[in-house]
Amino acid sequence: MTLSPQFLDELRARTTLSTLIGRTTKLQKAGREYRACCPFHNEKSPSFYVNDEKGFYHCFGCSAHGDAIRWLTDQRGLPFMDAVKELAQSAGMELPAMDPRAAEKAEAAKGLHEACADAAAWFTEQLDGIGGAEARKVLEKRGIRPEIARDFGFGFAPDSRGKLKAALKDYGDPLLIEAGLLISVENKEPYDRFRGRLMIPIRDQRGRTVAFGGRIIGDGEPKYLNSPETPLFDKGRTLYNIDRAAPAARKADRLIVVEGYMDVIALAGAGIAEVVAPNGTAVTEHQLERMWRMSDVPIFCLDGDSAGQKAAIRAAHRALPLLAPGRSLAFVTLPQGQDPDDLVRAKGPAAFEALLRETRPLVDLLWAHELAAESLATPEQKAGLKARLTELANTIADPGVKSEYLAEFRHRFDEHVRPSRAPFVPQQRGPARKPGQPWKAPIAPVGHHAKAVRASGIDRILAKAVLAGLIRHPAEIARHMDVLGSLQLADGALGRLFEAVVDLAVEDQALDSDRLLTILASSGFDQIANELLRPDQLSLSFTEKGSDSERARADLDEAIAILVARPEIDAALAEIDREAATLSDEAFERQVSLVREKQALDSRLANLVQANEDARASNAEGN
Ligand code: UTP
Ligand code: MN
Repeated sequence: MTLSPQFLDELRARTTLSTLIGRTTKLQKAGREYRACCPFHNEKSPSFYVNDEKGFYHCFGCSAHGDAIRWLTDQRGLPFMDAVKELAQSAGMELPAMDPRAAEKAEAAKGLHEACADAAAWFTEQLDGIGGAEARKVLEKRGIRPEIARDFGFGFAPDSRGKLKAALKDYGDPLLIEAGLLISVENKEPYDRFRGRLMIPIRDQRGRTVAFGGRIIGDGEPKYLNSPETPLFDKGRTLYNIDRAAPAARKADRLIVVEGYMDVIALAGAGIAEVVAPNGTAVTEHQLERMWRMSDVPIFCLDGDSAGQKAAIRAAHRALPLLAPGRSLAFVTLPQGQDPDDLVRAKGPAAFEALLRETRPLVDLLWAHELAAESLATPEQKAGLKARLTELANTIADPGVKSEYLAEFRHRFDEHVRPSRAPFVPQQRGPARKPGQPWKAPIAPVGHHAKAVRASGIDRILAKAVLAGLIRHPAEIARHMDVLGSLQLADGALGRLFEAVVDLAVEDQALDSDRLLTILASSGFDQIANELLRPDQLSLSFTEKGSDSERARADLDEAIAILVARPEIDAALAEIDREAATLSDEAFERQVSLVREKQALDSRLANLVQANEDARASNAEGN
């Protein structure tokens, strides 16, 4: 079927936009137009206008704009053809000729729709009648208010095999069987499918009842009996409550996905209308696509139990191939054994909203799931994790999103398997950065390139002297960032102090020594810092207070160079040692040269110490 522009124009002309919009949004006459609080965004004073002459609506707040068709697609969330059909129906227009089979199908569907609508009305009558007392009590006990029960079309199917069949007998058994309302078993009279159940109509996007969920009154199995698949009801393409959730989601700018009918209804009772549920099945691609039409990042609220978590991971896997820039899923884990219905009933909507603020992004769920899947004790297991993550990311069709996932997984993997030092956060902030001067991240990448200076003896003594020098001269740190960033000074308190000093100095490049010491003291480093600065430690020109000479700076450079070079030489020597069994001439020569280098470093260090003692001695003499 093709729709000509003339047809669409005629359709728009025959539609009174304010009547259409007024069905769901309260309009006020304002001159030639109508005015309302915008249904597309939250606002207190109305900036949404409807103009019947021009046939369009416009919001001056959020720029939502469109005609009658646009209203149905954007606000109600209907697919384009459904929007056209709905308008054509109200305008009394025939749709352009369809192919005959489609016409036949549409005719058949019409009967099914009517039968479902009549069944829903009949179930509601039963709920309101004498036989419905017990079912009404259930609603009351669950805290479902009458207006909510009416909005959701609750009904009651009496415990009888033939009452619905009799009530709808005009449709004839075959149609009622096709609609899923009767069960047909060979050699038996068809009989009512739903018996002794609280009935919940399942509606399509246009609000037409297409199926039912029936909850048993009291305990028993199965708890929910649902309509079978019918020409109207494709479980995998239907989302419970989509007709009401779509406009609400656009307004609230979010969509919540829960597991059960009752969760949807309880949340609606608590004022949260933008909620859908799959119909007791794993979420399908179609359902995800429909969700994404309502919101870029639907929030899945699933039980904390293992079934709920399995459902979450299944949804995550299904979503991956379909991700697009800006389009994802988020997850909220509910407390063990509680569903949203239990939660809002026990603790109110605020408690639920609080949970919604703690959503977990899709990438996080996937990462945590794979991380927990196996231990990481061996290289093989580590490689396994890496392979699984890469495989997951590779299922993403969108190249941009895929490469971000690959990068993110790689980063998380590296950080987890070979953590770099965590950035130091002082308990009390140092002097504020100048406004407009952004925080600069530490320059050097650290991670697995870090060389640990773990040795005791001279390296440790030298390290302490250098650290003391850095505390005395924080302004020098930036100049040495490339090597300092790759140094991991000893573990323990000294290492932490080193990290803190470097981080603070990088963050605030104007930091002076006194201020640095104050911040360190307030962060619990006072004892170790004071110990480090005591005169009985290796004392070099740069370790003393106020040592602000050219020479002190040059000596600090030299000390840092030695400190960085020593472990490199040690590592190279150790490497040669490991290969000792097959020591080649070449390796031997290399060993000799490394030893010479090491001796040279030692003598440079000795010079440094000696020069400082000489200077001190001459100072003392001079006094
Ligand atoms: P739950 O067992 O969590 O039910 O199933 P619920 O929604 O919390 O219901 P109450 O509060 O006990 O009344 C979640 C969803 O799984 C489907 C239904 O869609 C249900 O809403 N389901 C569950 C079935 O289809 N059949 C069942 O037997 C059970
Ligand atoms: Mn429940």
